[in-house]
Amino acid sequence: MKPKRHIDIEVPEKFKSLWKPCRYKVFYGGRGSGKTHAIAEYLIVSALLNTERVLCTREIQKSIKESVYKVLESKISKLGLDKYFFKTETSITCINGSEFIFAGLRSNVDSIKSMEGITKCWVEEAQSISRNSLDVLIPTIRKPGSELIFSFNPCNERDAVYQDFVVNTPENAVVVKVNYSDNPFFPDVLEQERLDCERKKPDDYNWIWEGNLRKISNAQIFKNIYKVREFKTPDKARFYHGADWGFADDPTVLIRCFIKDGCLYIDREVCEQHVELGDLPKFFNTIETARQWRIYGDSARPDIIRELQKKRFNIRPAQKWQGSIEQGIAYIRNFEKVIIHPSCENTVNEFKTYSYEQDRHTNEVLPYVEDKHNHSIDALRYALWKLIKRTQDQK
Ligand SMILES: Nc1ncnc2c1ncn2[C@@H]1O[C@H](COP(=O)(O)OP(=O)(O)OP(=O)(O)O)[C@@H](O)[C@H]1O
Ligand SMILES: [Mg+2]
Repeated sequence: MKPKRHIDIEVPEKFKSLWKPCRYKVFYGGRGSGKTHAIAEYLIVSALLNTERVLCTREIQKSIKESVYKVLESKISKLGLDKYFFKTETSITCINGSEFIFAGLRSNVDSIKSMEGITKCWVEEAQSISRNSLDVLIPTIRKPGSELIFSFNPCNERDAVYQDFVVNTPENAVVVKVNYSDNPFFPDVLEQERLDCERKKPDDYNWIWEGNLRKISNAQIFKNIYKVREFKTPDKARFYHGADWGFADDPTVLIRCFIKDGCLYIDREVCEQHVELGDLPKFFNTIETARQWRIYGDSARPDIIRELQKKRFNIRPAQKWQGSIEQGIAYIRNFEKVIIHPSCENTVNEFKTYSYEQDRHTNEVLPYVEDKHNHSIDALRYALWKLIKRTQDQK
């Protein structure tokens, strides 16, 4: 039987690269972006035109129902290709010898390791693939010209597939972010679901529909505590200044704040990467009060503090003690509001992202503060360390 001469397929712009040879093809993003459909079409057409051995896998597949079997089956019918493919309960084969195999990774690691001649491997829901499964899978798919295709909705930055392809993209990979707005077939039912989610669960919306990493709102340390808005600094405020030193790519930060009516106001920041020691005085002078007021800096670098003292800054090391980070957080959370001036962009970003760690499997919030997004926040704690300490001593 000769293959059909013509198959009608409209490939959305974002999926064009799927049709060009490449070792790793990674499509990630929010719900309804067309990932599953686009990849199913590509694999069916490939299996029809060449002899392919396609492994369709995911971390856990308890039954064929949990695989992409159904999607492939209905796609084959939609494309009018039923007469070229045979379906059994557990596999799909093509008259030219191509075959689709369905297997979960976790429970079949050994049999997958010994699979020969896989030409294409599709990993669905790849955000759930464990480090071990990924490390076993990749060298298993070794036939010259073979391809690994990953589709997923990102969840946690530490997920193996996110780390290996989005954060550290290898050279022989195409990595494409796709969202519902890239899907020309996006159906009305999903549009309704999307709008409902945007209205009712704005925190989840960003993750589910915009394809951004999941930030469990409970993990955000300063959620609902701060506001970003313009305000006028009083003429005679009692300022607090704090400094954090940048190492490697971390920025150096000087921050200024004051307390008024039960609120903490952050009105000035300077924040820059790679500030040389010799340039620090000029950098600090950007905040006009930095020379008159006491600054508290990170005690980890007494050499920098000494150097600035020589340049006649009134700077001292801030004390750190067991639990000072947690107590600093509690102190800041205890204000009625923290009001951040919009010009303090880094501080705004850090208040948004400063988080507790999350369990990488269950996403549960853990009682550890992430050592990230904390340069302005550390500087703020140094600025206020005496007040923080005093509240502890009074307990
Ligand atoms: N090539 C296509 N032909 C027809 N309809 C399509 C096609 N691609 C996408 N759609 C429509 O868009 C919807 C979403 O597509 P799909 O399920 O492939 O997205 P997804 O990115 O895999 O979503 P999820 O993240 O929810 O798994 C489908 O249910 C279907 O209605
Ligand atoms: Mg899908």
